[in-house]
Amino acid sequence: MIFLTALPLFWIMIAASRGGHWGAWMPSSISAFEGTCVSIPCRFDFPDELRPAVVHGVWYFNSPYPKNYPPVVFKSRTQVVHESFQGRSRLLGDLGLRNCTLLLSNLSPELGGKYYFRGDLGGYNQYTFSEHSILDIINTPNIVVPLEVVAGTEVEVSCMVPDNCPELRPELSWLGHDGLGEPAVLGRLREDEGTWVQVSLLHFVPTREANGHRLGCQASFPNTTLQFEGYASLDVKYPPVIVEMNSSVEAIEGSHVSLLCGADSNPPPLLTWMRDGTVLQEAVTESLFLELDEVTPREDGVYASQLP
Ligand SMILES: *[C@@H]1O[C@H](CO)[C@@H](O)[C@H](O)[C@H]1NC(C)=O
Ligand SMILES: *[C@@H]1O[C@H](CO)[C@@H](O)[C@H](O)[C@H]1NC(C)=O
Ligand SMILES: *[C@@H]1O[C@H](CO)[C@@H](O)[C@H](O)[C@H]1NC(C)=O
Repeated sequence: MIFLTALPLFWIMIAASRGGHWGAWMPSSISAFEGTCVSIPCRFDFPDELRPAVVHGVWYFNSPYPKNYPPVVFKSRTQVVHESFQGRSRLLGDLGLRNCTLLLSNLSPELGGKYYFRGDLGGYNQYTFSEHSILDIINTPNIVVPLEVVAGTEVEVSCMVPDNCPELRPELSWLGHDGLGEPAVLGRLREDEGTWVQVSLLHFVPTREANGHRLGCQASFPNTTLQFEGYASLDVKYPPVIVEMNSSVEAIEGSHVSLLCGADSNPPPLLTWMRDGTVLQEAVTESLFLELDEVTPREDGVYASQLP
């Protein structure tokens, strides 16, 4: 089951904020694959009475305070940015329209962190918004398997990847799903905070044999060599069946007899040896021996092994 609300809360908050205070709206977290790009949607606002001639802005990395000299990601006044952002950052939004949407390309792990926007309307009218986006740079698709997978009951396994790079769109495919059913690509879905995900679903009825099966999902980016794989192991719960047991045993008086019961289940079964309703031995195990020393005719009877 996938929970994505259709209601774009993000934009409702913007609509409600019109009329001017200092404020910014951006997703609190956003993710993207290494080597691709990310567009961080951003809007900001300021008191209407300021009426700036030009609106400038700065994006900072990891700290909101200019006095800490945080790495400059983007600066509209000078175009001078920190070396790790050179040629990698571009403002997509129009600051005059209070749109601070930022594009970061050629993502590498060290660009993961917090991004802060600062509005600069000239003079003292500068303000770094406390709202910020945490960028997570990933390299594996996220496979979501339900907490409980039971043999014979249909499950929905989903593969979800971020789709926030306008230039590179992921394509999803499943690995090791032969015989498990046909995937259904749900497509691009919008999440609460204005970020996007690409989702593919796999519906199937697991069998006991599918326990331990490795299921993979691959995200590839057409016309590039970028390719990412993620795997999940299926933990299929199934009830016990007895796979091995002595049916009838003849024993010589005074001899040693061992009886075996073997069963298969996930999780492992509780096995019990009983005679005439009396529990002789029990354990959580896949095979349980009952050892009878020096049998006499008194031990004659029906020995039963029981599953929970
Ligand atoms: C902000 O700018 C981006 C990039 O041009 C655009 O895609 C987005 O729709 C704009 N947002 C709003 C609320 O106008
Ligand atoms: C990949 O490249 C081909 C040929 O240049 C082009 O026709 C196609 O649209 C490209 N696909 C994508 C997803 O960019
Ligand atoms: C019961 O079966 C087990 C496993 O096959 C075997 O080891 C054991 O000797 C058998 N017991 C008797 C009394 O035949």
